[in-house]
Amino acid sequence: MFQSPAELKKLFEERAAAAGKAAEMEQLRIEFLGKKGYIAGLMQELRNVPNERKKEAGQRINEAKQFIERALAARVEELKKLEEQMLIDATESYDESMPTDDDLGSYHPITLVRREMENIFLSMGFAVEDYSEITDDYNCFEALNIPKHHPARDMQDTYYLSSGQLLKTHTSAAQNTILRKYKENLVNGQPIRAIFPGRCFRNEKIDACHENTFFQMEGIMVDRDISISNLIYFMKTMLSEVFQRDVTVRLRPGFFPFVEPGFELDIQCLICGGKGCPSCKDSGWLELCPCGMIHPNVLTAAGIDPEEYTGFAFGLGLTRLAMMRYGVKDIRVFNGGNLKALSQFTEKSFTRPDESKEA
Ligand code: PHE
Repeated sequence: MFQSPAELKKLFEERAAAAGKAAEMEQLRIEFLGKKGYIAGLMQELRNVPNERKKEAGQRINEAKQFIERALAARVEELKKLEEQMLIDATESYDESMPTDDDLGSYHPITLVRREMENIFLSMGFAVEDYSEITDDYNCFEALNIPKHHPARDMQDTYYLSSGQLLKTHTSAAQNTILRKYKENLVNGQPIRAIFPGRCFRNEKIDACHENTFFQMEGIMVDRDISISNLIYFMKTMLSEVFQRDVTVRLRPGFFPFVEPGFELDIQCLICGGKGCPSCKDSGWLELCPCGMIHPNVLTAAGIDPEEYTGFAFGLGLTRLAMMRYGVKDIRVFNGGNLKALSQFTEKSFTRPDESKEA
């Protein structure tokens, strides 16, 4: 009734080859090597084998047992590897039926503008930093010279998490972290120069020029003897690069607790050319870049001596900039899911606002 050791080896090989999963091998192990398995059965049969052949028969059974044990371990390993590979294939495999080049998606206009800005600032020696969207009261307000109950907080109501953390209302929320990260530069006689683009959130009533989710790009530079002229130089260089032409700008005094003095840098609306339209609230001007000299308290909070070092900061409205750059009249387009609207801004179809019929 029981197979010979040789037959058992062959049977095992067949069954192991047919197994598709490492887990199935456990079943085979029980069947062949378990207490009531085939090998155990052959051992029992030994009783009926004449004495002079017992030794040899026993050896053959033992040899078959070791063979099966080795083959089992090897097959388990093999199947595990196959399963791993299948998992990798499943996650990384490409689908031949996927659309080809012509149907590839396009970059979001904000991404295009962000990358362009990053390149401009990289070429001026700035580091590009990343910062989380979730932050805390200290970084978003306290470290920026906006103590609790300061009226400036009213304009920056945001979304609070049950942990007490909040969604950052401006990219300035990273100033403290980034000043700390690079303050060693100053000791080594190097300036701190960094930009940090990011998504910001505010409790806003949404209309053509206000969103509750928008993008800014903060920039800071700190060194000995940094002055307002440095600030103006960098702003001008940046804007002429972005728009590839002279844009009309104006500086107005602006109040932000973390800069002193503070300014609003406005550009003349490129959609209506200054005549007035819904995008610029009929004023002909768009607030594009609040900026100023970093307040001594902000430097102190980051462990930098304001007597020795000064710096400027600006908070460019990336979303605003994208509107100007691509002639988008309604801010809601950016967060809307309308791919027809969003996919027009690839470099190929790109028209500068001054070339478009609207301008
Ligand atoms: N964080 C400010 C805002 O979002 C803008 C700003 C940045 C002002 C840097 C001055 C300097 O309103």
